[in-house]
Amino acid sequence: MKNSGFILITGATDGIGLRSAIEFVKQGKNLIIHGRNKERLKETTKKLEELNSKIVVKTVCANFENLKETKNAFEQIQNENINCVINNAGCFTHELKPTIDGFEKTYQVNHLSHFLITHILLETLIKHAPSKIIVIASMAHANSVDFKAIKKGSFPKTYKAYSVSKLCNILFAFKMARELKDKKVSVNTLHPGVINTKLLIEGWGACGSSVENAYRMIEFAYNLDTSITGQYLKDFRIQKVADFAHSKENQDKCYDISRKQLQNVKFV
Ligand SMILES: NC(=O)c1ccc[n+]([C@@H]2O[C@H](COP(=O)([O-])OP(=O)(O)OC[C@H]3O[C@@H](n4cnc5c(N)ncnc54)[C@H](OP(=O)(O)O)[C@@H]3O)[C@@H](O)[C@H]2O)c1
Repeated sequence: MKNSGFILITGATDGIGLRSAIEFVKQGKNLIIHGRNKERLKETTKKLEELNSKIVVKTVCANFENLKETKNAFEQIQNENINCVINNAGCFTHELKPTIDGFEKTYQVNHLSHFLITHILLETLIKHAPSKIIVIASMAHANSVDFKAIKKGSFPKTYKAYSVSKLCNILFAFKMARELKDKKVSVNTLHPGVINTKLLIEGWGACGSSVENAYRMIEFAYNLDTSITGQYLKDFRIQKVADFAHSKENQDKCYDISRKQLQNVKFV
């Protein structure tokens, strides 16, 4: 196990990310787990190593509400042998205060940070191909994004903010799938199911199923052949999303705006 590649999971200290980490470890996969809290990362690592002492667990700590911190942390692991990245960390919030980077929190945590870290890890993913990028979106994605408003720094709030961030996840996944078509790196996005986690409870109440079910869609995406790319997965099959997301023009717009928004952290 020591030499096999790593699966990186963001937001692996709770909910769907943690459950997936547990299941991957039971299968003997080496992991890099991301969290925003050093103590929780330490506890999670201990738990995973107790489940399987043969695997390697590394950690990366960054609060996605801070882009500089996120960039610095992920640059530390950019030369690791990573062949799967699961962009899972996410939040739903009623807070209206912008992040220190000046963005609406949901947009930054759910979309912009993952845009940044995926690019930091791109070279290693290509080097260790066949590789996979799995973007956890949601069936609660919006039907459209007001790019003009977002460009001006005017972001939607609460439920609208969450659904827009999830549409941005899908636009990003589809764009990256096009960009990486010839590099043996697949990029797919999925709805994991409605799962009782703190994110769901914060936004909608405990109306979902047990977290035990959370890993099943991720396992489904992980086991797909890398030739299957640029797809949205739900209920264990490829499904259509909002027409807006299938437009290359919209995918490119989302990409270009996100790139510009990361200029302050010297992202090229
Ligand atoms: N639950 C559902 O029904 C559902 C449905 C559709 C899509 N999803 C998606 O599934 C993904 C996982 O969510 P979940 O339901 O498992 O929620 P969760 O239990 O609240 O877990 C979210 C994870 O993201 C991390 N996180 C939150 N804010 C962060 C920040 N500012 N910086 C870094 N990490 C942060 C959390 O860290 P801590 O452990 O420190 O809190 C936690 O590990 C999200 O992308 C969500 O949009 C969930």
